[in-house]
Amino acid sequence: MSNKEHDVTRRQFLNYTLTGVGGFMAAGMLMPMVRFAVDPLLQNKKTGKMVSVVSVDELTDQPQRKTFKVKKVDGWHEFEEQKIAYVFKKKNGDIMALSPICTHLGCTVNWNDPAYPNEYHCPCHGGRYTKTGINIPGTPPPAPLHVYDMKVKDGTVYLGDAHPRGGA
Ligand code: FES
Repeated sequence: MSNKEHDVTRRQFLNYTLTGVGGFMAAGMLMPMVRFAVDPLLQNKKTGKMVSVVSVDELTDQPQRKTFKVKKVDGWHEFEEQKIAYVFKKKNGDIMALSPICTHLGCTVNWNDPAYPNEYHCPCHGGRYTKTGINIPGTPPPAPLHVYDMKVKDGTVYLGDAHPRGGA
């Protein structure tokens, strides 16, 4: 193999150099634009923020329906989502906040319907749950009502996201 075969002409050298430098500069300009365009998609969609919902003094052993709003971000779209919780004090004084979303097909359950006293009843397919949200066997829901993340601060109940129990 002669050295002649490995020689690079001045024109080839300039082509390689300009292509390399040009590509590097183009990447440097495009990266921030691409990052800006996809950035909302890389963000966590849940705020995870706790929202003030009810004063502890208002709570009794009867579930009360409370509505509250949480800020959500979906891509570039920011919005407020209205949520509902049934909040009450258990026998031992602990506070419980349940999601009213039926675990069967997602309808909203009601507490203490005249025909179903002291239960949550789902009007869609007759799902029923106990006061603490446990699904009653023989009715359609496959799992208990979800429980909200909760904290109590300065006499106020704050709620976050609702989750299935026991990692179910
Ligand atoms: S959606 Fe509640 S029982 Fe079907």
